[in-house]
Amino acid sequence: MINRPRRTRTNPFVRDLVRETRVSEKSLILPIFIEEGKNIKTEISSLDGHFRYSPDRLFECVDSALENGVSKFLLFGIPKNKDEKGSSAYDDNGVLQEGLRTLKQQYKDKIYLISDVCMCEYTSHGHCGILDGQTVNNDKTLEYLNKIAISHAKAGADMVAPSDMMDGRILSMRNALDHENFLNTPIMSYAIKYASSFYGPFREAAGSAPSFGDRKSYQMDYHNVKEGLKEAIIDESEGADILMVKPALSYLDVISKLRQNTNLPIAAYSVSGEYAMIKNAAKAGLIDEYGVMCESAVSIFRSGSDILITYFANELAKAIKKGDIG
Ligand code: PBG
Repeated sequence: MINRPRRTRTNPFVRDLVRETRVSEKSLILPIFIEEGKNIKTEISSLDGHFRYSPDRLFECVDSALENGVSKFLLFGIPKNKDEKGSSAYDDNGVLQEGLRTLKQQYKDKIYLISDVCMCEYTSHGHCGILDGQTVNNDKTLEYLNKIAISHAKAGADMVAPSDMMDGRILSMRNALDHENFLNTPIMSYAIKYASSFYGPFREAAGSAPSFGDRKSYQMDYHNVKEGLKEAIIDESEGADILMVKPALSYLDVISKLRQNTNLPIAAYSVSGEYAMIKNAAKAGLIDEYGVMCESAVSIFRSGSDILITYFANELAKAIKKGDIG
């Protein structure tokens, strides 16, 4: 027989050789939630195995991640006080800033810190910007996002990640960072972020659900992919260093189309709802958690993503070390 595809599947050695997708713990980013206060480590009920840490206890999470070889973190802040303008988001003594300073002091250059730049956790109304009546005012919000990004960079953020979906924010933030001499602080843009029901558990974790309406006037309609490419091309032209697609698993087609349309690195954010689905289906005895976790993560890389932001970062790093994926 001329064609016997099984020949290259006969043993682990040859399967290793023909493997098309390589996965490394170096490509993983772990999200961490930082809560204002002291001596806090509270389990997040919607995100099994994840906690909100106060800045003084962050080391508990970072130490174990480093042991697994996970050294990049995406940080979210949970402030005590919220107001109309989300002022604790750009307060130099805000919770995220304090977390950044603490971690940088403790770990110096052993870790890489990416800060989520957004307002929804900090505004009393839970929207991702400054309101004019019932709608988010795009251009007014840009000034605030710039202040947040600069404040994060000053506190030690190695990279900033705007997740707000305002128009023009990348160019505006690039200029603002450059003006403050943060010339080498990269921007990872949440370029193609859909208005998604998969964010549910996160909104519980971060207390960031909008108090009225939804985010459909700024986050994308999940029927659209060409529009996603438009967003990505705009962000690239405005100086984004990495383009993100979010969520990941229901959007593998978007990742693969983006792969064909950009030479920038692509990050995929496998969001809270994706994690919760796997965790809870496994708990119900319906699927094998480990197997589904591995298969899902590899599918995201296979679709063309270079970087994966995931709540499974530690477990995936262990699976890579064991040789089950990678
Ligand atoms: C906004 C933000 C959200 C997530 C990350 N950044 C929530 C939202 O847009 O409503 C969701 C992440 C997840 O679900 O894991 N700051």
